This record gives sequence, structure tokens and C-alpha cells, in this order.
Amino acid sequence: MSVKPRQTILITGGAGFIGSALVRQLVGETDWHVVNVDKLTYAGNPESLAGIEANPNYSLEQLDICDASALERVFRTHQPSAVMHLAAESHVDRSIHDADAFIQTNVVGTHQLLATTRGFWNELEGSAKADFRFHHISTDEVYGDLNIHDPAFTENHPYSPSSPYSASKAASDHLVRAWHRTHGLPTLLTNCSNNYGPYQFPEKLIPLMALNAAEGKPLPVYGGGDNIRDWLYVEDHAAALRHVFTHGEIGRTYNIGGRAERTNLDVVRSICAILDELRPSEHGSHADLVQFVSDRPGHDRRYAIDDTRLATELNWHPQQSFESGLKRTIQWYLDNTDWVSRVRSGAYRDWIQAHYVTREAAT
Ligand code: NAD
Ligand code: DAU
Repeated sequence: MSVKPRQTILITGGAGFIGSALVRQLVGETDWHVVNVDKLTYAGNPESLAGIEANPNYSLEQLDICDASALERVFRTHQPSAVMHLAAESHVDRSIHDADAFIQTNVVGTHQLLATTRGFWNELEGSAKADFRFHHISTDEVYGDLNIHDPAFTENHPYSPSSPYSASKAASDHLVRAWHRTHGLPTLLTNCSNNYGPYQFPEKLIPLMALNAAEGKPLPVYGGGDNIRDWLYVEDHAAALRHVFTHGEIGRTYNIGGRAERTNLDVVRSICAILDELRPSEHGSHADLVQFVSDRPGHDRRYAIDDTRLATELNWHPQQSFESGLKRTIQWYLDNTDWVSRVRSGAYRDWIQAHYVTREAAT
């Protein structure tokens, strides 16, 4: 009986929110060997991967995707059969404050990863070359925003990014398409709506509001709270990525969404209602903590995903409703106070220092 050689997949950004969900699924449920290529920025937290850290099917390579020689070493060492690219600067507010890291990682870093991948792929032969995949993970924010009665974004919607973050992601999408069209690199591209779930850094709306509310702190809602997002549970996103990776057509783009459009104020009120039930407060409803604050500059009005292509061509549908996913998420943040407090205090950075040699220290 012949034994199939173990296949290796290189995941960038696997210590982040969505990347760690994907890595946990791949290591826990498949026989892929996962190499997690991550710089471990403030958003990268290996404690989110504590359960699989010692698994022989998992390795972490701490490096910056802008670093050509480090990337080449990783490709030579691990000989991957595929790349799923999630590494990015991801927070819109930070990109408004300072866009430098966004241009570096999301544009220059994606270019470097494409260049290194192409060099590696060009040397492959036969089925290793034909079966290779480069899957770029992107966002619905590249399409710009919608008015309330506009139809949802399809994959053919023109690009019109509003923030430095979404502009940098749009640039990365264009680079990926160019590497497919010009160089024949076998790419897949997915554009997803807002994710929520366990292990999300508490700068994003849902964990920030849940933790603030649980602690009786103000809930800062931008503008009038009437901006609309389409929410997807992170485990569903990771499952969708695996599905597109396996069944998607080379060169094609797939939108991924949760079919759960909600105004921000509705989301915050839903979080408060769940907390009223799980952690009743003697001071009244958690919703009393809502405070309307200055709006985000350039704030996109509405995002909505038309996922017809994914549903009809690839037969994929999300499992969690927004209500069930939100309840799980709030319960997770209440149950995982260690993870939360180490993130909030910065102690998770000490752990990284203790476990991994930083590039500066190594040179
Ligand atoms: P995140 O900010 O939680 O994680 C990003 C990860 O990338 C971190 O582990 C970080 O250390 C790593 N990273 C950053 N710069 C790097 C560099 N130069 N080299 C190597 N690693 C680096 O992000 P997320 O929310 O998990 O998003 C993952 C991807 O999905 C991003 O590409 C994002 O644009 C996209 N996306 C996110 C959402 C969402 O709602 N969060 C929705 C759609 C698409
Ligand atoms: O749509 C996909 C995108 O979703 C991803 O590409 C991004 O990486 C991800 O960060 C997310 O972007 P948003 O800007 O939509 O997410 P954020 O959680 O920052 O904000 C969600 C909405 O809530 C947005 O309309 C702004 C609002 N908001 C946010 C924060 C942090 C508030 O009203 N108050 C807040 O304190």
C-alpha cells in the first residue's frame, strides 16, 4: 500500500483572528501540515493557538512577509503545496491614524509574497505545479459602500475603496489578479464581510462593546449608529475559505457573507440584551451605557454581500445565524477572561518574547 506524502499549506497571518480560526480547523480536522507565517504584530497572538501549538502538523515561522530572503527560506524549507494569504493590517481606525504599516504589509508584503510564490511555483513540475494554489483573503470593503436600497455587492461590483485600509486591500487584490493573468499563477480570491467570534482583538466593534458593557464602561457608537454591516461568524468564514480553496475555480473571485445585515446600533443593543440575560446589572440595562461619539472620517454607510456565486456554484452556506453566533461569542468572552486580560494588559507580548526570538535579537 502506498502512503500519500503529507502536504504542506503555508498560511500567512495564522496568529490573527481569522487566521487562527482557519489554522485550528486545518490542524484539528485535516491531515495538512500547516506552516503559519506570521510577524506577530500587536494583532498576532499565538495564545489563540495554544491548543494546537505542540501538534506535529503545525509550525510557526515568525517573519515579515515583506522580507524576501526569509520568505525564500521558508518556501525552500517547507516546500508548500499551497498558500492561503491572510496576513494584513486589518483595522480601519488605525489606517486613518497612520497608513504606513497598511501600505507596507498589505501592498508591498502581498507583492513580495506573490513574487516569492511565483519563483517557487515556476520551479515545480507536473501535478505539483498544476495543483498548486494561491488563495488571497480579502474584504468587501474594496467595493466601497452602498445606499440603503442598493442591491448587495456582487463579484462584478466596481472597486471604490474609502479608507486607507480598504485602498491597500484593493491594491493587493489587483496585484493577485495581475499575477494570475500575466504570470499564470493559479490564484483564488475571496472577499468577505465583517467577521465576529472568539479570539477577536478587542479593538473591533463586537468584542469592544461586549467587554466594555460587561465592565459597565461606555459603549462608543460612531455617528448615529445607523451604518450597516453584514456579519459572519468567524468559524463559518474559515469553513468557507476551506471550501473555496478545495472547490473554487482558478482565477475566480467569490464573495462570502453572513446574510445578516444589521445597523451598528442594533448590534450593540443585541450584545446588551444578551448580557442583560447572562450578567444582569443592578444599574439597569447594559444599553444605558451607549454613548454616541464623533463619526469615523469617510465612514462607509452600508456593506451587503450577494453570495449567490458561492451558494449556487460551490453550494456553500453559513451555519450560524447572527443571533446564535453572537450568543456564542459573548459567552466565549465571558468564559475566557485569561485570554482577554492578557491581551488587554499586553502580557501576551511577554509570552511572545519568551517563546520566539525576535528578528532584532537574532541579528
Ligand atoms: P488580524 O489583524 O486579526 O490578524 C492579522 C495577522 O497578520 C496577525 O497575526 C499579524 O501578526 C499578521 N501580520 C500583520 N502584518 C504582517 C506582516 N508584515 N508579515 C506577517 N504577518 C503579518 O486580521 P483578521 O481580522 O484576522 O483578518 C485576516 C485577513 O482577513 C486580512 O487580510 C483581512 O483584510 C481579511 N478580512 C478580515 C475581515 C474581518 O472582519 N476581520 C473581513 C474580511 C476580510
Ligand atoms: O467588512 C469587512 C471588514 O470588517 C474587514 O475588512 C476589516 O478588517 C474589519 O476590521 C471590519 O472593518 P469595520 O471597520 O467594519 O469593523 P469595526 O469593528 O472597526 O467597525 C464596525 C462598525 O462599527 C463600523 O461601522 C464602525 C463602528 N464602530 C466601531 C468601533 C470600533 C463604532 O461605532 N464604534 C467603535 O468603537
